[in-house]
Amino acid sequence: MYGSVSIIDIENSAKMLEEDPILLARFEGKIQNGEKIEPHDWMPKDYRRQLIRMIEQHAHSEIIGALPEGTWITRAPGFRRKMALMAKVQDESGHAQLLYNAAETLGKTREEMINDLIIGKSKYSNVFNYPAKTWADTAVIAWLIDASAIINQVTNSKGSYGPYCRALERICMEESFHLRYGYDNVVTLATGTPKQREMVQEALNRWWQPIMHFFGPPDKASVHSEILMRWKVKMASNDDMRQQFFNQYVPKILELGLSIPDKGLMKNKETGKWDFSDPDWNEFFEVIKGNGPCNKERIAVRRMAEEQGAWVRRALKKTNAYTVPLS
Ligand code: COA
Repeated sequence: MYGSVSIIDIENSAKMLEEDPILLARFEGKIQNGEKIEPHDWMPKDYRRQLIRMIEQHAHSEIIGALPEGTWITRAPGFRRKMALMAKVQDESGHAQLLYNAAETLGKTREEMINDLIIGKSKYSNVFNYPAKTWADTAVIAWLIDASAIINQVTNSKGSYGPYCRALERICMEESFHLRYGYDNVVTLATGTPKQREMVQEALNRWWQPIMHFFGPPDKASVHSEILMRWKVKMASNDDMRQQFFNQYVPKILELGLSIPDKGLMKNKETGKWDFSDPDWNEFFEVIKGNGPCNKERIAVRRMAEEQGAWVRRALKKTNAYTVPLS
């Protein structure tokens, strides 16, 4: 036995993954013992591939995620809120940089990652393919999407890949400010005039389903969870994280007098868990395939930023000022 994994399991996995069984056993042993894997350590090809996929998607989500809120900087109600929103959008772009750095330690260059994003090969979070129609949408995004991200990121920051975990820890500290900022905005609207309450309720109605989707497909339909959880990249399943969101945030939403647009939502007295209606998973799969309401617009903006920034990167390269630090 290596930890809780039997030698037969390791031999079968090594065959399947086309890896050396001894190296794989040592690697699995380190993971079982809670040790971190660092960039120069031996790792299975599939661990590297899965991490690049996940961290890259996460980095793209941060950079694309700045767009729906960014459109409200010029229209934010008041100077203080404008400054706070600008700082938040800047933070999100900074998170992307941290995550691109972490993914680069695995051997994929930033140029390759950005290229895969703008040609539509790489995914990013479903939620950022919807429009922020009113100021209340930005409040709901900053509160509940950042809350969802924190649940995911705090959990996975205890995972196995050192550079990703360290990036997540730093990101979560900033995200908790965002969450407070979002909550403050939601409270202001929910305790404001009837028109403001209506605005925030409508925004919640619009964002509820995308937030349900945010945690990924149900466990039974998740393709990558099994291997990612075995290798402690994902420290909880999609359904467990979604349930944690319900436990923490449904009471807070109801406390504000807002209603949740799900007739099936109910705390199950026997299991202690929240029962809820299945969101429309067809919509989720369409959105992540590129057919959401804003996918094309989001990618077009990123492509434009890339093209318009090309001369800056060329100039920095020439002066040797453009270096990419390793995490
Ligand atoms: N948005 C877009 N795509 C998603 C998604 C979401 N919310 N949830 C799942 N998917 C995609 C997966 O990327 C995968 O597609 P792929 O094979 O083409 O990459 C497919 O749906 C099946 O999902 P699953 O097997 O459950 O993927 P997963 O094990 O990677 O879990 C996450 C999905 C989002 C939970 C996981 O990737 C994760 O924790 N990522 C890091 C955090 C992050 O990116 N947060 C978003 C921004 S804050």
